[in-house]
Amino acid sequence: MNEKIQKIQQDIQGFIFESEERIETFRIKYLSKKGEISVLFKEFKTLPSWGKKQLGTRLNDLKNQAQSKVQQAKISFSRQIKNREDFEDLTKPGMPFTIGARHPVSVVKNRIVKIFRNIGFITAEGPEIEDDWHNFTALNLPTYHPARDMQDTFFIEQNPDILLRTHTSSVQIRYMKSHQPPIRILSPGRVYRNEAISARSHCMFHQIEGLYVDKQVSFADLKQTLQYFTTTLFGKSRLRLRPSYFPFTEPSAEVDVYWGLETEIDQRITKGTGWLEIMGCGMVDPQVLRNTGIDNEEFSGFAFGMGIERIALLLYQIGDIRSYFENDLRFLKQFEGAL
Ligand code: DAH
Repeated sequence: MNEKIQKIQQDIQGFIFESEERIETFRIKYLSKKGEISVLFKEFKTLPSWGKKQLGTRLNDLKNQAQSKVQQAKISFSRQIKNREDFEDLTKPGMPFTIGARHPVSVVKNRIVKIFRNIGFITAEGPEIEDDWHNFTALNLPTYHPARDMQDTFFIEQNPDILLRTHTSSVQIRYMKSHQPPIRILSPGRVYRNEAISARSHCMFHQIEGLYVDKQVSFADLKQTLQYFTTTLFGKSRLRLRPSYFPFTEPSAEVDVYWGLETEIDQRITKGTGWLEIMGCGMVDPQVLRNTGIDNEEFSGFAFGMGIERIALLLYQIGDIRSYFENDLRFLKQFEGAL
């Protein structure tokens, strides 16, 4: 019996399907009721039980092998036929295909990155899961600091030292720790805050952080850089810096752009003032430089941070932050072709 199995096995392996009809020939020869494998099964039944187990396994394997050979041959012939049909009429119009669109957050991010790249800023990214030191303490926000409440934080339950970063300012710290000035970086990325989801706020959004550290960097440099940025991105060059507070910058400011009051939309989004807030900024606090091992006597710097969805809102008049994250194709398709 063993030899018979081996013989059939070799025959099966050597069997070639020159045409589709040969599949049926093969099936009848081996797998039909009177086929060679079925005959072996009948013979098997009559054997004494000694040594039957191993033989049975071999016999089953043989049958499976033959069946899968038939299956594969069928698939390969049906593919050939399909290919032939597809190419029969070469004058047929091509199959339509759709190309995807970049997400508006990526579109705006890319535009901002490009604007700053033109004046020498490179991109530096950091992790979204951060530790307390990089996200808070090194940025002048020790544990007891009340300004920690400005950003509701998602902590990891098992270890309160680990959290989801609340801003991209943590990347400043990482970069300054591992590089000496001159530093000119832009850090785009996702940030998280424990906030109720509404049209105006979300528990996950995107920011871009900028940092410039070198000898004799001044507030005038900051203002000039921002002026260049707003003129290039929005085509608006009137800026206003309002005194503000951030623990990691001193002095700190909020940046407003004069948007105008020409249309009804202008009226609405600027609440009738003509001015729009676009970001926070300031001179890097000397203590932050010291925290990261940079000599604050020799170097100074400026930093700024903005929300990408907010900038996209201004560019595209998207009023509801939730629409960025709902994956509605009707919304996303509007950005087809944008880079
Ligand atoms: N990290 C601030 C926030 O999330 C934004 C910010 C403000 C970043 C001022 C800065 C800055 O670098 O200088 O609200």
